[in-house]
Amino acid sequence: MRIDIITVLPELLKSPLDHSIIKRAQQKGHVEIHIHNLRDYSTNKHRNIDDYAFGGEAGMVMMIEPIDRAITALKAERNYDEIIYTSPDGIKYNQKEANKLSVFENIIILCGHYKGIDQRIREHIITKEISIGDYVLTGGELAAAIIVDSVVRLIPGVISDETSALTDSFQDDLLAPPVYTRPAEYKGWKVPDVLLSGNLKEIDKWKEEQSIERTKRLRPDLLDE
Ligand code: ADE
Repeated sequence: MRIDIITVLPELLKSPLDHSIIKRAQQKGHVEIHIHNLRDYSTNKHRNIDDYAFGGEAGMVMMIEPIDRAITALKAERNYDEIIYTSPDGIKYNQKEANKLSVFENIIILCGHYKGIDQRIREHIITKEISIGDYVLTGGELAAAIIVDSVVRLIPGVISDETSALTDSFQDDLLAPPVYTRPAEYKGWKVPDVLLSGNLKEIDKWKEEQSIERTKRLRPDLLDE
């Protein structure tokens, strides 16, 4: 998979995508992540990429031309399955959406900023708008980092224990069961006996019951879906 991210703040994105599993996924060739500075596609010497809004609206708007140039340059090299814009008014991101994105070959993520981007980009170039939740960030970079992180860990081979990604919370609309490690007793707080029993059938049954109980208690909305 290849992910191209277009941003005015490349430094903000580099660090979150340069650690642990996501870093190793890149080193092992499971994913290529390319971060592009939108200012490199500006058409003036000040490297401006924003301008005043028509109609007297307060705040700056990201201009159409640098974004079009950046995306056109990428599209000239390869086909893209999706051109995503991170915005609080996009569809709300969830695990199902992450699963869908994880099977694609090439995607572009455009990070929004300021008052937003010229509407014509959204109408003619963007194929999907994603919000990571009902709150407003100062820019789309952290949203893009969250999308990339959640997608890359689903690419086959990225997580060494292949079953691990499948047993995550949300993967089957259930929260994950609780987990424990040694010692089996600490300050009198005990690990459930069944987990020490060695009876795999009983353990699986217990995990499933715990998942259902936790989901009912903490996220009943997931069971309605
Ligand atoms: N940009 C600003 N707020 C955002 C959000 N909630 N999701 C995605 N992009 C954003």
